[in-house]
Amino acid sequence: MEKIMVVGAGQMGSGIAQVAAQAGYKVILNDIKEEYAKGGIKNIEKNLERSVQKGRLKAEEKDAILGNLEISASLEDASQVDLVIEAAVENMEIKGKIFRTLDEVCPEHTILATNTSSLPITEIGACTKRPEKVIGMHFMNPVPVMKLVEIIRGLATDDEVYNQIEKLSLAMGKTPVEVNDAPGFVANRILIPMINEAIWVLYEGIAKPEDIDNVMKLGANHPMGPLALADLIGLDTVLAICEVLHDGLGDKYRPCPLLRNYVKAGWLGRKTGKGFYTY
Ligand code: CAA
Repeated sequence: MEKIMVVGAGQMGSGIAQVAAQAGYKVILNDIKEEYAKGGIKNIEKNLERSVQKGRLKAEEKDAILGNLEISASLEDASQVDLVIEAAVENMEIKGKIFRTLDEVCPEHTILATNTSSLPITEIGACTKRPEKVIGMHFMNPVPVMKLVEIIRGLATDDEVYNQIEKLSLAMGKTPVEVNDAPGFVANRILIPMINEAIWVLYEGIAKPEDIDNVMKLGANHPMGPLALADLIGLDTVLAICEVLHDGLGDKYRPCPLLRNYVKAGWLGRKTGKGFYTY
């Protein structure tokens, strides 16, 4: 495997592109508009510059990593790659469209991975004529920092494809964990109900945001509280995952109305400057 396309240059996509380029792969960072892809590269530059300033990375190494990256605004550019990692929005219709196009454009050997945080890998695979080469590769936010990658097989995924993705995850410095295709996989099955519960606690007026977060930071040693974490993930993404859990697993996972309201208001967390906190 030499060349990788990452589809989606948001916080997850740019993080994935960064760790792939750091591992020495040639990476095309794709988004629907060139300016979005450029924004992703800017993000990567900022992260690498911080590492240089902290003495963890030499300036030449930073330049070499940036040299592994190019941008694209067309999925047609996937015609030369060995692997695509899709990190677009959590919407089955959009992902279906992307995977159908990639299936037409990519060479036969290309593996199509998705960084979906909760949508079924089997259903995404069924959008293509190569479901045996479709697999879930779920990174955590912020990607350059978090060690975990959940690897999820669809019903049809080949063992050989699994093995290649496991090897790649290790090469990216991550710890892969094998997980079955079920709503929310493991990480979000556990994390999102906790965040949703914290939002219910706020909605019911039991405590203020800072106090809810302090309880979990000081009382359970979480690195950040659940509401700050929701703001980091993006409230639209939290809601989308919560809906998948609710649809697939029942009423216990019902999204809090306050979460729906915040998303309707466009208060999506850090990326819009306002969520449970102001940035
Ligand atoms: N990108 C790159 N690096 C980052 C970063 C980012 N966005 N944010 C922080 N870092 C780096 C910093 O540079 C710093 O590195 P050094 O110490 O080596 O200099 C390190 O991370 C620690 O950062 P800070 O000192 O600024 O702050 P912190 O100690 O509070 O750590 C944190 C920040 C790593 C985000 C930490 O609070 C944390 O681990 N939070 C929980 C994150 C989490 O649970 N993520 C999972 C979200 S769920 C998900 O992603 C799945 C999904 O599908 C929704």
